[in-house]
Amino acid sequence: MKPVLVLLVLGLALGACGSTAGSTPTAPGAPQTPVEPDPLRAAAAAAGKRIGAAVQASYLTDPRFSAVFARHFDYVTAEYEMKWDPIERTRGSEDFSGGDAIASYAAAHGMQVKGHALVWHQALPSWVGSLPADDLRTEFERHVRSVASHYRGRVAAWDVVNEAIDDSGAGLRDTLFRQKLGDRYIADAFRIAHDADPQALLFYNDYSGEGLGAKSDAIYELVKGLLTQGVPIDGVGLQMHVRAGAPPTDDAVASNMRRLAALGLRVNISEMDVRVGDIGGATPANLDRQRAVYHSLVALCVAEPACHGVTFWGFTDAHSWIYGAYGADAPLLFDAQYAAKPAFYGVLDALMRR
Ligand code: G3I
Repeated sequence: MKPVLVLLVLGLALGACGSTAGSTPTAPGAPQTPVEPDPLRAAAAAAGKRIGAAVQASYLTDPRFSAVFARHFDYVTAEYEMKWDPIERTRGSEDFSGGDAIASYAAAHGMQVKGHALVWHQALPSWVGSLPADDLRTEFERHVRSVASHYRGRVAAWDVVNEAIDDSGAGLRDTLFRQKLGDRYIADAFRIAHDADPQALLFYNDYSGEGLGAKSDAIYELVKGLLTQGVPIDGVGLQMHVRAGAPPTDDAVASNMRRLAALGLRVNISEMDVRVGDIGGATPANLDRQRAVYHSLVALCVAEPACHGVTFWGFTDAHSWIYGAYGADAPLLFDAQYAAKPAFYGVLDALMRR
């Protein structure tokens, strides 16, 4: 083979190895090597944002999972193991092993950790529900202090209170905490967490309040009230569990982010996934609609200085809390075989302001 032709073939083959979105056509006969997408974490860092995913400790021992997770993400949320039930299924006996494994993995891979969640009306140990009010207050305060203290120095942020606003937006959700401890339980949780870990950023986290509307307004009024009381709160997590057929509008999300920022708060997109089951499943056309939704919503965080990052509620369709309700929802960035989907490139383009 003539030297010029060899150089041409070699150039094309090397080009294919380093290409990003889409694959560079390779010359016939050139080695077919998988196209490794550019890492999200490099693009996010260049945009000044954290990029994360929710994981469970058991996933981290899977080499394929770990390789993709460590390559693309620098922010990890414990999907389950830092909640009250997995920590203290038996009253007085705490097991931090799951959360510790996640925190250790993060430290070994240059990642920050977001703890989730100190106070939530779900994932509660079975013994909590029957406690009389005085005992509940004692256990509530001990739990928040114990967990925040345990992870002090290893967790950059906490979802301190999760989903405390009623879905109607009419006020607080009528949880056992509100019933037995009063509305003050929210402020109390933030104050105890701050006292236990003064360095951690403290977030209120909720769903269906990403754009504008009754629930979004109620979240805004809640956090504004906390700030007025001098409660140590740093930000709001917008969960962003959306359906590709009916995402919140860009204008509404941008306006909501701006008004929270105007209070001096950070925002983050905290649990993003975009299901396609309600528009007919994971067809090529629907995966492109999914890409467009990921692109436009992540671009809003990139454009908002107060938005400090985006966390996806998982990153591979092999591990998602969503399945079955409307057919294959295929909600995440990578398919179950860890191949990057169009959604991945939508996020990468948003981070690169393309
Ligand atoms: O790990 C145990 C396993 O040992 C046991 O055999 C099995 C059967 O009981 O349960 C396993 O725990 C499950 C856990 O997920 C880990 O898979 C729990 O039953 C199950 O309830 C738990 O569901 C989690 C759910 O929150 C409730 O904690 C989901 O994974 C998690 O994705 C979901 O995440 C929530 C956020 O925290 C808040 N926002 C909404 C979001 C989706 O619901």
